[in-house]
Amino acid sequence: MELKKGLEDVAIKETEITYIDGQLGRLYYRGYPIYDLTEFSTFDEVAYLIWFGKLPNRKELQDLKEKFVEERKISDSITDYLRKVRKDANPMDVLRTAVSQIGLEDTRPGDIREKAISLASKIPIIISYFSRLRDGKDIVEPDPSLSHVENFLYMLNGNKPSQVESRTMDVTMILHIDHEMNASTFACLVVASTLSDLYSSVVAGISALKGPLHGGANAEALKQFMEIGSKENVTDYIMKRLENGQRIMGFGHRIYKTYDPRARILKDYAKKITEERGNKELFAIAEKVDEIGCKILGKKGIYPNVDFYAGIVLYSLGFNPDLFPTVFASSRVVGWTAHVMEYLKDNKLIRPKAIYRGEIGRKYIDLDSRE
Ligand SMILES: CC(C)(COP(=O)(O)OP(=O)(O)OC[C@H]1O[C@@H](n2cnc3c(N)ncnc32)[C@H](O)[C@@H]1OP(=O)(O)O)[C@@H](O)C(=O)NCCC(=O)NCCS
Repeated sequence: MELKKGLEDVAIKETEITYIDGQLGRLYYRGYPIYDLTEFSTFDEVAYLIWFGKLPNRKELQDLKEKFVEERKISDSITDYLRKVRKDANPMDVLRTAVSQIGLEDTRPGDIREKAISLASKIPIIISYFSRLRDGKDIVEPDPSLSHVENFLYMLNGNKPSQVESRTMDVTMILHIDHEMNASTFACLVVASTLSDLYSSVVAGISALKGPLHGGANAEALKQFMEIGSKENVTDYIMKRLENGQRIMGFGHRIYKTYDPRARILKDYAKKITEERGNKELFAIAEKVDEIGCKILGKKGIYPNVDFYAGIVLYSLGFNPDLFPTVFASSRVVGWTAHVMEYLKDNKLIRPKAIYRGEIGRKYIDLDSRE
């Protein structure tokens, strides 16, 4: 039996959701190029596309928006938990626990897609309530006149987002919505394949996304730009890091061996949002790291990935760096649940093998005789 460490190059399902061409740097959702979706669509439309397999017409989009608004509520017991939980708790732990509680409280029988829509609507509430409460601020009630992403920023920051902010958030959320068979999506499928419930699957996804090898690199990339401090320090910083065998955060990807198309798109939005929010220097540093990093690492197929500019963008939108993975989850929940629904159409319990390398037939020694 062949050992495939990390299941690299192992396909576990057929999909019609996302296609990545890692050599040419192309990404398609349901067959549509990511460039078109980020230019012409909103997060709500792309969420519909991922869940239903087609772009919505006006009526279908309106219905989804109304469902999002209708489901923008969490129970008193969850709000109470968010008030009482330790202020220094890891936000991904808080989110995981709150989603678990939503699952426990949701006793309605029902369509799995309806539950997915409801959960996607609730996750931003959990994140913004927790963020404000731990900062000693009052919670902000959802505003039904706002879109999903506008409402998210409004509940987080307490003021309605500008056009640039809301468009930047839309695009960032679209770019994180799905990415084929990544670790957290796989974790969701492992749970779903046992015919457990959707909430348990999503809890597994959040748990996998929490790890720094998956959901944490955007904060690391931001930290790196802050550490560099000025554009003039970039070359020295990169050279020193590479000489010491350290990595440039936000560079490199298992699948993309060229510039990640998501990073290319986010770069423009990072520029606009940092201009609006007075963080221009941060963008200038990142752009220089991008330029020098590509010159040095590009030969090895190592280029900026989505996390490279995502950190600056989310920070400029008002998110504390420890919340970045939760924002990622608030978008990826759409992909997770779509993959679960797709997998369940032709379910097979996920049960791989391990190659045993230990001894066989050891002689049993009773407790008193053991050394
Ligand atoms: C994402 C990542 C884990 C993918 O790694 P991978 O496909 O498993 O590839 P490896 O870790 O085996 O790296 C292959 C080679 O590229 C180098 N490399 C990979 N990413 C690098 C980076 N960001 N900076 C410098 N060198 C890098 C490795 O040192 C290794 O070099 P070697 O062959 O001379 O030892 C890796 O690129 C990384 O750690 N990047 C930084 C963290 C990050 O941005 N993560 C977010 C991913 S979306």
